[in-house]
Amino acid sequence: MTAILGISAFYHDSAAALVVDGRIVAAAQEERFTRKKHDAGFPARAVAYCLREAGLSVADLDYVAFYEKPLRKFERLLETWIAFAPRGFRSFSMALPIWARDKLYIERAIRKALGGEVTNPMIFTDHHESHAASAFFPSPFDEAAILTLDGVGEWSTTTMGMGRGNRIALSHHLTFPHSLGLLYSAFTYYCGFKVNSGEYKLMGLAPYGRPLYQHLIYDRLIDLKPDGSFWLNMEYFDYGHGLRMTSERFHELFGGPPRAPEADLQQRHMDLAASIQAVTEEALLRMGRELHRRTEQKKLVLAGGVALNCVANGRLLREGPFDAIWIQPAAGDAGGALGAALFVWHQLLDHPRPAQKSDHQHGSLLGPAYSADEIAALLRERGVEAARFPAEDALADYVSGLLAEGKVVGWFQGRMEFGPRALGARSILGDPRSPAMQATMNLKIKFRESFRPFAPVVLKERASGWFDLDGHESPYMLLVAPVRTEHWCAIPPDQQAVMATDPDLRNRVNVPRSTIPAVTHVDYSARVQTVDADRHPRFHRLIERFYARTGCPVLVNTSFNVRGEPIVCTPEDAYRCFMATEMDVLVLEDSVLLKEHQPRHDPGGAREAYLAQFQLD
Ligand SMILES: [Fe+2]
Repeated sequence: MTAILGISAFYHDSAAALVVDGRIVAAAQEERFTRKKHDAGFPARAVAYCLREAGLSVADLDYVAFYEKPLRKFERLLETWIAFAPRGFRSFSMALPIWARDKLYIERAIRKALGGEVTNPMIFTDHHESHAASAFFPSPFDEAAILTLDGVGEWSTTTMGMGRGNRIALSHHLTFPHSLGLLYSAFTYYCGFKVNSGEYKLMGLAPYGRPLYQHLIYDRLIDLKPDGSFWLNMEYFDYGHGLRMTSERFHELFGGPPRAPEADLQQRHMDLAASIQAVTEEALLRMGRELHRRTEQKKLVLAGGVALNCVANGRLLREGPFDAIWIQPAAGDAGGALGAALFVWHQLLDHPRPAQKSDHQHGSLLGPAYSADEIAALLRERGVEAARFPAEDALADYVSGLLAEGKVVGWFQGRMEFGPRALGARSILGDPRSPAMQATMNLKIKFRESFRPFAPVVLKERASGWFDLDGHESPYMLLVAPVRTEHWCAIPPDQQAVMATDPDLRNRVNVPRSTIPAVTHVDYSARVQTVDADRHPRFHRLIERFYARTGCPVLVNTSFNVRGEPIVCTPEDAYRCFMATEMDVLVLEDSVLLKEHQPRHDPGGAREAYLAQFQLD
């Protein structure tokens, strides 16, 4: 037996992954255990979980793989500092102690964190090789072109290459500070959202805007070549030497200082979002064409934080040269842990990759699970009233009925998802046909601004009747596709005015555009997850029952958390979140809890205390 532990840590979204004899046994992000969103510390609890899942101890590990090369990253920081000195001194002096403490001595730190029992080799893979490995090795393809895009790793920001059999080879790369990820993050920052997590909001804001600034971006900020390579004009950015993303020149160019977080969104911000989104899509399309020309591959795999831009992914699939695309669900740095471990197994130890019809990611259901009996015992102990439905059919029947009545349901089943999206294991579900569902779920449950619609889950075999996916599946919610026109509805003239000009985006998104308004964006797009019976039998059954009742094979699926909270991990996390929000129903494996049967009182203000601990994101 060969056990390889992969680790990503010390930057953003720490995670651990365990590969045993080539099989992905477990993977999880540290934030789920520590309840600290994007936790960047050493993933001690994720490591402990992975080992527990496999029944192994640290001493059983044959290799520990870290997802990047710390010295090379240190060298980038140093050279960046020299290039920008003396202006760079500020950011470097801020960064140096952290690096000196945690990163130059990473190997020692990891060995110490693992309890000093690791005597076997520790391997440091290249940051983008880790991304590339996480994209290709678990994919269903024997060979494929590889594209990785992120903010920055050591030096690379974009790489192109090939995967074939049990080998990957990266052949071209772009380097810091020229980065599509950092360009997108600069606009994220400028529009008042958090860098490294608010990019999703900027993407969701884009459909409200017009790409009016696109040409200004091409003229001044980015020199995008026909082959997709590009050069950023660093006069407009501050991340090379300062602590901010954008420079004064950037602010002058786009008409004022950055938007303060939580300040009103203006049309200008929406137009900026639409513009940078259009530029990102164009860059991705050009890279896709170039990569196809170079490799002559029909299939593509993607990873790196930019690969979470599911609008751009959708366009690349529809308009690009590839027949099929597979995207690592943990596309950001958390997935680097998995990539590093797989890289050791295939690339360094030369173990073959068995061909397989489906992918090797196991639905990304790679985290902890809790048995139905364990949960029932826990509820009994707490005196919580719940009904049990040991027969899956009865459970699906009952819960689909509650959903059809408009109830909001917390759905906790099986192993937790690896990656930023909830895929039906730790999800909150609702009826997408309800015009009020979008606002209800946002305001009463997520406690957040609600200009973004929710994502739909759809039965895979019914997907083509509802979304323009061209026969592709989207098991990891990483593709945006239009709702099919036969489900659009006519919009009365007064509502059209709201849609076009109302300054409150919540009013705009609440104008029903389709028969599934809760999941249809203002441009009729939807971030689709297709659900199949192989990866998610119980979830599939539930949607099937909902379809039989309503004729609609679609549900709203949003992550099981409140705003700023990591997705729930344990049944306790789920119960706490259920009680602190206005969620109507909680399904924990086969136990069903109705809010109306739970105690109403809130001893000691537990609800407020719970909600107050999460920073707005
Ligand atoms: Fe990365």
